[in-house]
Amino acid sequence: MRVVRRGEFADLDAVREIQDLSPEAAHWRVEDYLEQDFRVAVHDGRIAGFLVARRLAPDEAELLNLAVEPEFRRTGVAISLLDALISDYRGTVFLEVRESNSAARKLYKRLGFQEVARRQEYYKEPLETAIVMKFHSC
Ligand SMILES: CC(C)(COP(=O)(O)OP(=O)(O)OC[C@H]1O[C@@H](n2cnc3c(N)ncnc32)[C@H](O)[C@@H]1OP(=O)(O)O)[C@@H](O)C(=O)NCCC(=O)NCCS
Repeated sequence: MRVVRRGEFADLDAVREIQDLSPEAAHWRVEDYLEQDFRVAVHDGRIAGFLVARRLAPDEAELLNLAVEPEFRRTGVAISLLDALISDYRGTVFLEVRESNSAARKLYKRLGFQEVARRQEYYKEPLETAIVMKFHSC
């Protein structure tokens, strides 16, 4: 059985492991996620993926991080996490993604996110353009 729920302290080791296995994800201190909108997908008791977002304004949110345990990829985990986020917000959800991250860009496009801007040399190590995307949730 798979559920999406709020992330907790006890989830942090598994979340750190998934983050370490995902070079394309942002690599922040997982403890800080507890202060954000932090959600995990749990599959038969295992953490299959996580998402971190923050509210920028009453009608604006930003996706800060998203990663799925490699073993669970292409099974709809990211869709479940993003659906849960989108259905809880009324307004615009923004995100940034590396230009080369075609898997994530296809995922966001499939959900209806639209490209709104390009930020050159936004990412470091390696230096790369960010694609800014947005989704309007009502
Ligand atoms: C990007 C990522 C989060 C996708 O997670 P996921 O759980 O595998 O995605 P889903 O199974 O929900 O995929 C939904 C759809 O997204 C698209 N998609 C996802 N991964 C894809 C890939 N590797 N190649 C092409 N399309 C892909 C497909 O349209 C897919 O639907 P389909 O499987 O029916 O074709 C995952 O690959 C990951 O953790 N990558 C490393 C971290 C990362 O890139 N995070 C995003 C930073 S902005």
